Amino acid sequence: MINLKALANRRAEFMSMLHEGVAILTTSKHQARNRDVFYPFRPDSDFFYLTAFPEPEAAAVFVPGRKGGEYLLFCREKHPEMERWDGRRTGLEGAIEEYGADQAYPIEKLQEVLLELLPEYENVYTQMGKDSDLDKEILSIISDLRTRSRQGARVPAQFVHLDHILHEMRLIKDAEEIRIMRKASRLAAKGHVRAMQMTRPGMYEYQVQAELEYEFLKGGGLSVAYPSIVAGGRNACILHYTDNGNRLEDGDLLLIDAGAEIDCYASDITRTFPVNGKYSGAQRDVYDVVLNAQIAAIDAVRADCSVTEYHDVAVRKLTEGMVDIGLLEGDPEELVENQAYRKFYMHLTGHWLGIDVHDVGDYKIGEQGRSLEPGMVLTVEPGLYIEPCADVDEKWHNIGIRIEDDVLVRRSGPEVLTADVPKDADEIQALMAE
Ligand code: GLY
Ligand code: MN
Ligand code: MN
Repeated sequence: MINLKALANRRAEFMSMLHEGVAILTTSKHQARNRDVFYPFRPDSDFFYLTAFPEPEAAAVFVPGRKGGEYLLFCREKHPEMERWDGRRTGLEGAIEEYGADQAYPIEKLQEVLLELLPEYENVYTQMGKDSDLDKEILSIISDLRTRSRQGARVPAQFVHLDHILHEMRLIKDAEEIRIMRKASRLAAKGHVRAMQMTRPGMYEYQVQAELEYEFLKGGGLSVAYPSIVAGGRNACILHYTDNGNRLEDGDLLLIDAGAEIDCYASDITRTFPVNGKYSGAQRDVYDVVLNAQIAAIDAVRADCSVTEYHDVAVRKLTEGMVDIGLLEGDPEELVENQAYRKFYMHLTGHWLGIDVHDVGDYKIGEQGRSLEPGMVLTVEPGLYIEPCADVDEKWHNIGIRIEDDVLVRRSGPEVLTADVPKDADEIQALMAE
């Protein structure tokens, strides 16, 4: 459970950025999977960031400076009969006592309360375009107020998009978020270690997925942060492979990209290891190129460095490495210049990480890559993916390798949150041989 004091501070900071206004956020809808079976519910990330409220059918309204209460939470009321079937509801009292709302209302009252509140303020802060039902409700309120404006009803003057304010906040993690992300990272690492220990030739990808996710679930990671990628052999060259249905053959590599979610915070780890416990010569050569690039890129994750820098470092190191082992030919500087590496490395070296696995926040300020700041968390995940083709020696064909860690930017240098799972090839082989 997220520390309530930290949440209250977060809300206070958020409200200090609203001027003369009302902010409205809703959570995700509970989606049907088939007939009367639903997908597990997962709150909306922005809503959760400010409320930690875990139920569907809820909205938060923030009105800084309002005498009767600044933080209004709208949710489902208690309903003993429904709760017997579908599980407990927090209810209105719980919204105040357990989640720190100043006032709580049934969700059905949202429109009515907004109709009273909106005319009193200049600005309405929403996430227009995200929840079409809310958009319609707000438009209908505004239209209603307009028709009544001749009787003196005031209409808010401006609509302001909330995303920028919220996403800049979410980009810099507070101490409570870092605590949770450390936990999620450690748990994900445990799953990866177990997967390495259990993998044998002849197993199916989904069987390794079961071993990995067993640790996640056992440790309280009730959901994965995104569908686990368990990709044996040539499947590793498919960047978002999630079929996980193939047999693992002796001599293949296995790429696992998987992360546990704790209290809605993601971890995101990739490791690539040999199914039989021993890298072949060609596999080891490519592996060490990726590993050296990853280590060098992590070292470039420093406060005040540009966010583009660690990608550039990875690209340079990968290119030099590919020339060293004979996968590319030519002058590394020229090969970087003309992007020859893109044949084997076609994605960026990482992304922000947080409540969303590809977390929010701008990467550029104007045309420039933004400077890294303490409290940002990002992934460092270079890779090489070698599809069979005539001008590449067969020994490299179908090798797909990615190594990914989650890194916290600190004044004192990068902190690798996911360091508990080995990535040195010898260490991986030793772990698998145990
Ligand atoms: N797991 C998705 C990614 O690494 O970006
Ligand atoms: Mn990943
Ligand atoms: Mn990632």
